[in-house]
Amino acid sequence: MSLTRPDLDALPAYVPGRSVPGAIKLASNEVPYGPLPGVVEAVTEAVAGVHRYPDMGVVALRDRIAERLGVEADRIATGCGSVALTEHLLRTACLPGDEVVYPWRSFEAYPIIAATTAATSVRIPNTADHAHDLDAMAAAITDKTRLVIVCNPNNPTGTAVRRAELDAFLDKVPSNVLVALDEAYREFVTDDTVPDGLAAYGDRPNVVVLRTLSKAWGLAGLRVGYLVGSPAVAAAVRKVVTPFSTSGAAQAAALAALSAEDEMLRRVALVCAERERVVTAVRKLYPEVPETQSNFFWLPLGDQSADFAAKCEQAGVIVRAFQGDGVRVTIGTPEENDQFLSALGI
Ligand SMILES: Cc1ncc(COP(=O)(O)O)c(C=O)c1O
Repeated sequence: MSLTRPDLDALPAYVPGRSVPGAIKLASNEVPYGPLPGVVEAVTEAVAGVHRYPDMGVVALRDRIAERLGVEADRIATGCGSVALTEHLLRTACLPGDEVVYPWRSFEAYPIIAATTAATSVRIPNTADHAHDLDAMAAAITDKTRLVIVCNPNNPTGTAVRRAELDAFLDKVPSNVLVALDEAYREFVTDDTVPDGLAAYGDRPNVVVLRTLSKAWGLAGLRVGYLVGSPAVAAAVRKVVTPFSTSGAAQAAALAALSAEDEMLRRVALVCAERERVVTAVRKLYPEVPETQSNFFWLPLGDQSADFAAKCEQAGVIVRAFQGDGVRVTIGTPEENDQFLSALGI
């Protein structure tokens, strides 16, 4: 007899983007320009205190985020990356057998989190354009649904939901069902018809916004994400957060990064300009690449995905294949992107 839950055997493991010595990594949606100014110094200073537990209330950082966003700090919870907050949110919202509705393909952590929290996954296939099918998602809500996840922009397809369709969708969701707007890539959105979830819907008590400092803010390795919800939802999430999981170094780094917003915006602008250049070039060979509002793009290559990734790897570039479905390519530095394009013979 197995010592662990037998249903986990059928669960696909989370696959991190691979790091291969000497190769360029365009596989994990990181920003390639190093930590933001002030971060290394802040972490170095924080390290001197690692024999003590950090501030469990994460007060200074929550206050800073609250001030930035123009909300009260009691609406914020921080966690070990926004992936952990997604899990905490499910644990907060769902009892075993309750349903969580999300688009598919989307962030690969969603099915894992749903299964391990014993919620039932209701996956709604994306449209032919690789975007959320919000009508089908709304229609999938039942008496058992506790949470719906909207990933905007969507990982790994890069597509985004616009204001009018999200307004209409949210109006259809019953007020006793939570909607998580996963905005891990919000900073890369350049189309102003794609709403800022907090500005547009922050006053709806059933809307929760998930953000991360891993991507645009350059802190993937230190694991800081945050959630903004109603005071009641945020308090419930703070109850289930693993104690002390936002480490002292992470808190210090996040405060330093948030003080370097101008540099963050400069880097994001570089990434978005490169996105335009690379996607335009790639579409000459693969016109089916969908629009992207993120720091990556999607090649819907189906069964060719693994071969494509292997070919890139031979040319020293690691991309992320989802065999049978497509390949996600992160935008890197101009030189890295050139190496990717030349791997394709462009
Ligand atoms: C859509 C989405 N949400 C959340 C996350 C989680 O990021 P982190 O846990 O690093 O904050 C990711 C990371 O890849 C993501 O793609």
